[in-house]
Amino acid sequence: TRTAAVIPAAGRGVRLGPGTPKALRALGGTPMLIHAVRAMAASRAVSLVVVVAPPDGAPEVKNLIADHSLPERTDYLVVPGGATRQESVSLGLDALPEDVSVVLVHDAARPLVPVDTVDAVVEAVREGAVAVVPALPLADTVKEVEPGAPGEPEPVLSTPVRARLRAVQTPQGFDRDTLVRAHRTVAVDGEGATDDAGMVERLGAPVVVVPGHEEAFKVTRPLDLVLAEAVLARRRA
Ligand code: C5P
Repeated sequence: TRTAAVIPAAGRGVRLGPGTPKALRALGGTPMLIHAVRAMAASRAVSLVVVVAPPDGAPEVKNLIADHSLPERTDYLVVPGGATRQESVSLGLDALPEDVSVVLVHDAARPLVPVDTVDAVVEAVREGAVAVVPALPLADTVKEVEPGAPGEPEPVLSTPVRARLRAVQTPQGFDRDTLVRAHRTVAVDGEGATDDAGMVERLGAPVVVVPGHEEAFKVTRPLDLVLAEAVLARRRA
């Protein structure tokens, strides 16, 4: 039984500003996607990494990975992605060899997740959980609002108790059959699911949270790039 990591990296990353697709942006001189692949490969449990490239970008991504070093023990595959994150993950799952029984799904946009977090997620799945999510308590209070027109004040509907909330990260870990069943049967409207564990929840299967890590933050906005560069500089010091 093998553990594989699927990395959806087909997003354009418009919130980061104009330019190259987000996964190909450089951090410390190395594309974000390469950091993310290495972060998965750093776990001795992970023997295969499946990268989901932009729909027309698979050859380019394949060359990019070939140009960077990975541990000897790590195999990788590159497949073209889809229009939504959810579709991209599904296409990655379709490419998994039969002997893979544990799957991690990791955003290319979280390039700096520490190996201990990856290992903790794998460990929890191997010990019997069908879906495992790394997550952190929130610093901010969160309001549910009635979204209005841009620029207009939005009415507040409720304030969930902060102590019960968690901000979820990746890699999320799954029993392969459960995640595949979720992707085959759970219908999500609009832009699709932003989170794989949410689809497993909709199956009615149990999902558990393990401690996440500050450095597993998602690079979404320009300020996140500043933070990511600072974290890398500190690691290299
Ligand atoms: O847009 P967001 O930050 O939520 O994207 C999370 C991850 O999903 C990123 O790694 C992005 O490249 C990926 N994604 C994808 N296919 C899409 C959209 C996003 O693989 N169509």
